Amino acid sequence: MVHMDIDAEKKYFFEALCLFHEMQWLHNVPVTEILTRRSLDAIPKGWTEQLEILKNEELNNFAMGKTIKAEWPDSLKAYLSRCKEINRLPLVPVLSSVELPKNFRTGLSQKKQHEIMHLANLVHEQCTPHNIQTIIDLGAGLGYVCQMLHHLYDYRVVGLEENEENVNKACARQQKLYPESLTRVKYIHCKVTCDSTDTIESILRREFPDATETCLIGLHACGDLSISASRIFCKIKSVKLFILISCCYHKLSVSKSVRIPLQEKQYFHNFPTSDCLREVIALHDFDTGQFLRAPFFRLACQESAEKWRDMTEEKHVEHSFHVLARAVLELYSKQNNLLLKKKVRKGTRKSQCSNFQTYFKDSLARYDLVRDTDEKLTATTFARDELEASITRLWEEHSKKLKVVEVYTGLQMMLQLPAESLILQDRLCWLRQQGLKAVIVPVMNKCVSPRSYAIVSHKR
Ligand SMILES: C[S@@+](CC[C@H](N)C(=O)[O-])C[C@H]1O[C@@H](n2cnc3c(N)ncnc32)[C@H](O)[C@@H]1O
Repeated sequence: MVHMDIDAEKKYFFEALCLFHEMQWLHNVPVTEILTRRSLDAIPKGWTEQLEILKNEELNNFAMGKTIKAEWPDSLKAYLSRCKEINRLPLVPVLSSVELPKNFRTGLSQKKQHEIMHLANLVHEQCTPHNIQTIIDLGAGLGYVCQMLHHLYDYRVVGLEENEENVNKACARQQKLYPESLTRVKYIHCKVTCDSTDTIESILRREFPDATETCLIGLHACGDLSISASRIFCKIKSVKLFILISCCYHKLSVSKSVRIPLQEKQYFHNFPTSDCLREVIALHDFDTGQFLRAPFFRLACQESAEKWRDMTEEKHVEHSFHVLARAVLELYSKQNNLLLKKKVRKGTRKSQCSNFQTYFKDSLARYDLVRDTDEKLTATTFARDELEASITRLWEEHSKKLKVVEVYTGLQMMLQLPAESLILQDRLCWLRQQGLKAVIVPVMNKCVSPRSYAIVSHKR
């Protein structure tokens, strides 16, 4: 095993677990259920009193961990400092804005361009000292990074992708825009799992028979793909370097779920991964299936509190309205034994949120209200006016909570970095446990691209 202060790691994991266990009223509930589960009432009174009176800029700074007031309760000050301690992610330096070369920009957002360029730069910086010239990209999508690595630095690249349509699109794009890369950038349809080692080795032998040392990368490798990538890196001898930016932690596959009152316990195949975290969980008898569930993983892959840096009062009002109005619909449904089912992919349009009546009308067009017995109810089978009147009454009862919603959101956002930190530390620890050096490197501007950290590991 690579030198690792096991006691310090265990202490870190224990403290992180304690924090998330204690604060589960903040992160263990889907945002639509904050009224049904009375999450807002769980905020300690002394905290609400102090935070509700903050001015807009003060609230933003508080969520970013930059404001502390002497008169605040000690428990609130302690929460702030615990969040800082559990966040081990390095600070992201200010990165210059980048633009892709002209014929690579078409159809790509600023965000995507930023991600592609900064990852390509990091890959080159890491590959050069090891003289690596061949890259394997897992979950290559439409091949943006693959093409850029070839164009800028002349790497040979194999892009593996499970979605056949993406593979076809990547090939078509290559034929049309970058035909000179056809012999050096290959897109292959392949569902990568932790057992794909032989498949990947034979693809490499077939496509680039003389490749001796390679680098395995992934940009926004979602769910289990990140974990498979780490295992593949360890198993394939010729892969010397590993650079991975994960995303969608909440898409990790569930290994076991157990129904308990009000919720479901969820255990995951790929969390925890390290022995170290596993041992701490067992030693202290933490039931992670009860408090580290999908909402926790979803929070870990949201934007960080930095998002509030310049958030205007108007935007806060819009946000809290949207959250509270949706929570009122949920509460009404629960109280009346109904379920809300989305008719179209997206729920209510934010643009429709000028007042509750408009919101409600828009919602009726977008959701079906279904009896829990699955008998479909629409506004026509209900007396529509009656329905509107009773939901509006419920809204009026709760509408004074708009500011508390923002306080709750701010407190929750403060847990985003600690949550992502815990997940990435566990993965880092797993790599070190395999005898590999591994570090977390900041790659992107958080405000542009929230998943901004790469795990970088190399074999000696
Ligand atoms: C968030 S996208 C990122 C795409 C690309 N890396 C980029 O950043 O533009 C994740 C991609 O990984 C692919 N993917 C997910 N799981 C996979 C697996 N097990 N094997 C291969 N591809 C996978 C998805 O189809 C999707 O194209």
